Amino acid sequence: SQQPNLFKADVTAAPAETEFVTGKKTTVWAYNGRVPGPLIEVQEGDTVEIRLINKLPQPTTIHWHGLPIPPEQDGNPMDPVLPGKELIYRFTLPEGSAGTYWYHPHPHEYTAEQVFRGLAAPFIVRAKNDPLKDIPERNLMISDLKLTPDGAIAGNDMNDWMNGREGQFVLVNGQYHPVVEVKGTERWRIWNATSARYLNLSLGGRKFTLVGTDGGLLEKPVRDLQTLLLSPAERIEIIVDAAGQEGKVSLFAEPYNRGKMGHVAAEKRIDIAAVNLLAGPSIAIPEVLRKIDDLGEAKAMKKMVFSEAMSMANGRHMMLFLINGKSFDMHRIDFISRLHETELWEIINNADMDHPFHVHGTQFQVVETERNGVRTPAPYRAWKDTVNVRRGETVRIKIRQDFPGLRMLHCHILEHEMLGMMAIQQVK
Ligand code: C2O
Ligand code: CU
Ligand code: CU
Repeated sequence: SQQPNLFKADVTAAPAETEFVTGKKTTVWAYNGRVPGPLIEVQEGDTVEIRLINKLPQPTTIHWHGLPIPPEQDGNPMDPVLPGKELIYRFTLPEGSAGTYWYHPHPHEYTAEQVFRGLAAPFIVRAKNDPLKDIPERNLMISDLKLTPDGAIAGNDMNDWMNGREGQFVLVNGQYHPVVEVKGTERWRIWNATSARYLNLSLGGRKFTLVGTDGGLLEKPVRDLQTLLLSPAERIEIIVDAAGQEGKVSLFAEPYNRGKMGHVAAEKRIDIAAVNLLAGPSIAIPEVLRKIDDLGEAKAMKKMVFSEAMSMANGRHMMLFLINGKSFDMHRIDFISRLHETELWEIINNADMDHPFHVHGTQFQVVETERNGVRTPAPYRAWKDTVNVRRGETVRIKIRQDFPGLRMLHCHILEHEMLGMMAIQQVK
C-alpha cells in the first residue's frame, strides 16, 4: 500500500538455546529467540513503534544503525534499558530513507559482547518507487561466531581485543555455509554484521553489479565488479545475473590485509556459501536508479585522528584506541555541530590497522580519499554511514545532521569501540 502505516512489534532480548554444531548446545543472546533477529521491513513514510523487552542479565539498548531518527530514539549508551525493564522506541522514516540498515545493542561497555553473543538483525526501508522492484531479492546477513570446543560462546582473548574478534564460523542468515540457488537475475542485500571481519567479497571471478550502499541506491549501476570490500557494519546491494555465467561457484571472502597486529596467521580465502548459478529470466538494470543531491558547500570543518597507543595498567599492557588522542568519555562532548549545516570531516587514520568509521543518525557522502599525498575523488556519489579508513589514509566526507542532540561516532570494530575509539557529537 502507498499509505503511511504504523509498524508495531515487540522485540525481546533474551538468552536462547541453539545447536550450531551438531550435538553441542550453544547459549546465544537473541532477539525473539533468533540469530540474526527478526527482519523489520517498512516503507518510507512509515512510523515504527518497537517495544524492547530486556530479559538479559545486563543493561541493553536498540540502536537503529544508519536510520535518520532523533537521538532520543536511537539507543545511545546513555539511555540504557535495565534488566527486566522495557522501552518503546518510536520514529518516522522520512522520504528518501529507503535503504539497507540493521539494529543491534549499544549499551555502555557491553556493545561488543552483546553483538558477539548474537544480538543483531536486519532492517529494510522500502522506497515508494523502486526502479528495481521487478528483480527478485535475497538478504544475506553475514556474521561470525567464535565457539569453544564444547560449543559455548568463547570470551575475548588478547588478540581479539587488539585486532577485533573474528569467529571461526562465518554465517549467512545464521547458517554455516548454506547453499544459494540463483535463477537468472537477483538483487542481493548484504550486511557485514561481524564484530571485526573484513569481507572482500567475490563470486570466484563471476561478475556482479553494485547498485546500492548503506543508505540505498546509487545514481547509476557500477558494472563488471569481481570483488568488493565490505568492512564491518557496511551494507551493499548488488545484482547477480546467472545468465551467461551458469555453474557452481561460491560466495568467497578473498584475502584482505587490514594490518592486524601481533603474530597472526596470513589471511586465507573463506568459502562463505555455495552458489549455484542457474539459467533463468534475465532482467535488465535501468541505467538511472535515482538522483542523489550533493550535500552542498561545507560551512565548517572537523578533523578526527584515529590512533592506537599502548598503556600499562596493573602491570599489564593494554592497547588504547583513540580519537584525537582521547579515549571515550560518556560525559564529554567532543564535537559541536550546527543543525542542518553541511560540514567537511577529515578522518585521518594514523594507526597501524584499518578502522571502519561510523557515525549515528545520518548518511554522509565520501568526497575523496588521500594516501601518500595522492587524492582520489570518490568514484560515485553514494549514501554511507560507515566507511573504511585504511591505515595511513585520510577520508574526507560531507555530512549534515538533521536532529538536535547527541550522536556517537566510532570505529565499528566493536572491540575498538569498547576500548575507547568513540566520541560524541552534539548537534544544536
Ligand atoms: Cu552500528 Cu554505534 O553502531
Ligand atoms: Cu550506528
Ligand atoms: Cu578500529
